[in-house]
Amino acid sequence: MTEALLADDPLYEELYDVRREALEIGNLVEEDVNPGMNALREKAAVHKGYLRNLLGLPQHHRHAAAQGKPGYTCFSFEACEKAFRDTTHLSMEILRLPSPDGERRLAFLEMDEPEHRCHRATMQPMFVKPRAIGWWRERWINDIVDKLVEGLKRQDRAELNLQLCARVPVHTITRAVGMEGDASLPFRNALIRTGSHSISAEERAAAAKTVETMLLDLIARRRAEPGDDVVSGLIASSLTLPDGTTRPLTSREIMLNCRLVMLAGGGTSWRQFGITLWALLTHREQLEAVRADRSLVDAAIEEAVRWNPTDPVFSRLVVKDMELGGIAIPAGSALEICLGAANRDPSRWETPDAYNLHRPLQTHLGFGIGSHLCMGQNVARSEINAGINALLDAFPNLRLDPDAPPPYLTGGLEQRGMSALNVLLH
Ligand code: HEM
Repeated sequence: MTEALLADDPLYEELYDVRREALEIGNLVEEDVNPGMNALREKAAVHKGYLRNLLGLPQHHRHAAAQGKPGYTCFSFEACEKAFRDTTHLSMEILRLPSPDGERRLAFLEMDEPEHRCHRATMQPMFVKPRAIGWWRERWINDIVDKLVEGLKRQDRAELNLQLCARVPVHTITRAVGMEGDASLPFRNALIRTGSHSISAEERAAAAKTVETMLLDLIARRRAEPGDDVVSGLIASSLTLPDGTTRPLTSREIMLNCRLVMLAGGGTSWRQFGITLWALLTHREQLEAVRADRSLVDAAIEEAVRWNPTDPVFSRLVVKDMELGGIAIPAGSALEICLGAANRDPSRWETPDAYNLHRPLQTHLGFGIGSHLCMGQNVARSEINAGINALLDAFPNLRLDPDAPPPYLTGGLEQRGMSALNVLLH
């Protein structure tokens, strides 16, 4: 496992380049979108139009189901929170692709209530805070972080976005699901290829087959011989449906649940870890405060997720006529929830554009809120927390490399992260 973790595998660079990822998806945005999102929020809580159109960017539909539908976007904290919590007028159906068998390809993320809650409950107990700082951190995260940081000690310079931020989440989620660490990159590669626009439909189908086979093989092995991992936990759990009937999960349901967390947990934590380090490395006095008082690490992470959430916009389908922020939104529309703007709402935060980990802690929307609130938030916090602590312990003189191009926020409107994080370690 150590070998794959520390290997100089070119796949890391291929899979973990924020800008190239956005080019591949077709949603690259070169400029800082925060001022535009702020200005829209200051004009009105809710606007008619998709976020991209409102920002003057070329249209790109993240979800095929939004094609041809009128779009609306909410910006204020109040309107965004209300939208996230509204399961009466708003549906996750926007994520669904037509599928001949009616299967939910994104598992419970695509489901609405009450079905969603039932399926999420089969996994949720393994992702609660005590498990994230106990089971996850002690069993996988600490080991991965320690080995990576130990490897860095031999270098003078490093590119932390690639050498640390990318590697911690992918190895954590792969091993936590129950696979060997060596499978991390090949699995991630196949997973990313299932949604790639630059390969043929046949190649996408082959990648999807690889993902399914790797997971179904693992599930079969764990049915025969249970382990201490997410797949074994799902095999042992039971699904209670809205009608009250209870049954074990099928292998296919377990496979879909695992695929969802591997997708949701692979890229987000990588990009958000990079954003958090960027915030600290460019706010030296706050970095030193964290170094001196490690109880501030959590605040540093939370503030980074508020300040620049990796994904500032999520979508819903409007299934019943509704009113939001004084605007009537008809059924059949798509609603974009611009949590990036909500997280900088001056009615909730003073000087919201500033990164300030000392500000009073208040709920933000970087992990969403309501029934679809990020299930992996505590795991993400554990990964980033372990990474920051290990870096601060190992490198008292850690700083940005003045000879390298300054890091900048890049990527797609829906998945932002760092261009690179070149640092001097000693
Ligand atoms: C800092 C990193 C992360 C951020 C910023 C983030 C953000 C989010 C957000 C905003 C949502 C809500 C989506 C919506 O309402 O439409 C979400 C959902 C979700 N996230 Fe995360 N996430 C992160 C890390 C993770 C990790 C590490 C995992 C798994 C290990 C994960 C698993 C999930 C799952 C399964 C859902 C769907 C929950 C549901 O539908 O009930 N996330 N995430």
